[in-house]
Amino acid sequence: MRKLKILIAIILTVCLFQFCTKENSALNTFSTVLNLPSSPLNYLVTYPTHVAIALAAADNTPTNNRLTNEGATLGRVLFYDKHLSQNNTISCASCHKPELSFDDNVALSSGFNGGKTSRNSMSLINLRFYQNGRMFWDERAGSLEAQVLQPIQNHVEMGLTLNELEAKVKGLDYYPDLFLKAFGSSAIDSTKISKAIAQYVRSIITYQSKYDLVKEEKASFTTSEAKGEQIFLNAGGPTCASCHTPPMFITSNPRQGFSLADNNDIGIRGSNNFKSGSLRNVMNRTNLFHNGSVLSVQAMLNAGAPGTGSRPIPQHSIAPQDIQDMLNFLNTLTDETIFTDPKFSNPFK
Ligand code: HEC
Ligand code: HEC
Repeated sequence: MRKLKILIAIILTVCLFQFCTKENSALNTFSTVLNLPSSPLNYLVTYPTHVAIALAAADNTPTNNRLTNEGATLGRVLFYDKHLSQNNTISCASCHKPELSFDDNVALSSGFNGGKTSRNSMSLINLRFYQNGRMFWDERAGSLEAQVLQPIQNHVEMGLTLNELEAKVKGLDYYPDLFLKAFGSSAIDSTKISKAIAQYVRSIITYQSKYDLVKEEKASFTTSEAKGEQIFLNAGGPTCASCHTPPMFITSNPRQGFSLADNNDIGIRGSNNFKSGSLRNVMNRTNLFHNGSVLSVQAMLNAGAPGTGSRPIPQHSIAPQDIQDMLNFLNTLTDETIFTDPKFSNPFK
């Protein structure tokens, strides 16, 4: 009789196990076939002089995590791998899409269980140029390496503990070889995961826009674009450029007086200030500012116009007759190559 009970228990366990694996594979509907070239793509780019000079002055790459082609390749795979979320439905790229300049197009993004993020998703371009290295709208992450593990552990975004993350990555057959190539050992831990993702994200740099061609003297601005640049550099005070510094158009000091009125968010250490990412590719993005409430650059510049009923955003309005020139200039900052560049794109086919 006891033997029978044990037998039934074993049969039940096996059935349950099979049911569970079935359920898992049903959720596992995304492709897990990796499509990587036999030798890694090149992430060690020689940038045009104006970009290289800016990089030398602001690079936040730590000495213990230099960019390598193998490290960034591993980071790219992790970035697009939905196994990095609790129910295999969300990857970093769900909220940071290459074709949207590694941003998304909603005010607040949906996590693995449909919950909403508390702030607007950020574009991940040109983060390597953020001199003080701190990440998030309120700068709460001390470095990119520290930042990248936070969305994985966030209860809304991806919902894994670091132990669960390590166990899941160890359980996927394509990773040991990628870790071996990136770090000289196939051992897997969350520190290496964070380093690889940080390398990949740091490699996303825009330097092939019309603006860059003009700075390299390979093209020239139209009259309107040139006028827009002058307004950006010189109009008002403080000027746009004093906060969004060319050539990467990234803030060097987000603590300069600025606030988009928001009673629900105190920003950087209670100061009501927020970080601003690179304005490059901003014309390709929607839902701007920390809460995504400003739909587009056009809406930002038009805010406060008579008849719209909207309040101008401090430091972000210019004379109505200058708006078109400003838009034309900002359009020259868009580098479309990152939308489709194979080294940035989804490796799961
Ligand atoms: C569910 C949507 C979502 C997912 C998934 C997600 N992010 Fe984000 N990301 C956000 C939001 C929202 C913010 C801004 C949060 C804040 O400032 O509080 C952000 C901010 C960031 C920043 C800060 C950029 C800056 O300029 O300071 C980085 C870097 C980043 N995410 C990388 C990643 C990586 C790497 C992953 C995958 C491991 C990931 N994100 C997954 C929504 C997401
Ligand atoms: C005093 C500093 C300052 C000045 C001057 C300034 N900005 Fe900003 N800008 C910021 C900060 C800080 C943010 C992010 C604030 C937030 O999210 O609440 C921002 C956000 C933006 C954004 C949205 C970016 C995004 O990723 O969502 C755009 C576009 C922009 N600024 C363009 C301009 C233009 C054009 C000018 C000149 C007319 C200008 N700014 C002047 C500091 C400044």
